[in-house]
Amino acid sequence: LEPVPSPVQGVGPIYRPEAEKPAATVSKAVSYDNVHVLPQTPQLIALLTMIRDKKTTRADFIFYSNRIIRLLVEEGLNHLPVIEHPVTTPVGRTYLGVKFQGKICGVSIMRAGEAMEQGLRDCCRSVRIGKILIQRDEETCKPKLFYEKLPSDIAQRWVLLLDPMFATGGSATLAVEVLKAKGVPEEHILFLNLIASPSGVADFAERFPSLRVVSAFIDQGLDEKKYIIPGLGDFGDRYYTL
Ligand code: PRP
Ligand code: URA
Repeated sequence: LEPVPSPVQGVGPIYRPEAEKPAATVSKAVSYDNVHVLPQTPQLIALLTMIRDKKTTRADFIFYSNRIIRLLVEEGLNHLPVIEHPVTTPVGRTYLGVKFQGKICGVSIMRAGEAMEQGLRDCCRSVRIGKILIQRDEETCKPKLFYEKLPSDIAQRWVLLLDPMFATGGSATLAVEVLKAKGVPEEHILFLNLIASPSGVADFAERFPSLRVVSAFIDQGLDEKKYIIPGLGDFGDRYYTL
């Protein structure tokens, strides 16, 4: 099946007339209530352009990926519950604010997901982080679980599951099954990823309807090797070894 191209839209600041905005490919829209795509702002599209470019150096790939990861974490935190929290300001007035309710932890799908840990730590000081080592078999593209080490009280926490690439969805599905087997309710899991395939998102959203997904971009599709297209290639290789 030929992938349906993603929409092209004029991207730029709102004060600029539509005709003067440069054309850029933006994320496909999604029709699942539990899947949230970051707003396709000029900033996000410029950052994604950097990391998709095969000419981008490893140093730049790390720097620009980290910026997108920070945006994803900030948006992910918006999906956690808050309670009212009034405070008194230094001028003696009350400000009716909120604070987060409950405990969280991160869980990274190794290796590429570990790249997202610092972005989470930057927002949530001393956050606990669990690890699940899942690797896709290079021939079959099926995920294989090798190792997991998770906080002992994970069933009582909200879990931010971290993996930049969401292709067939096999790795993320296996990770969610590990979390559910440890007693984490599906509705307490938020899966943060940079680039997703439409089929991965659809299968996952239907399988886990109460789990939330936050993605920076839903791409066109998958190639014959189950790589996301246009994608960015192998995230782990570009971040860690190339
Ligand atoms: C990549 C990526 C995801 C998975 C996505 O990891 O980081 O974990 O593939 O593919 P899927 O949705 O089809 O399962 P990979 O297994 O290549 O290992 P890496 O993290 O060491 O690069
Ligand atoms: N893993 C990656 O790093 N990239 C893809 O496109 C698919 C799986």
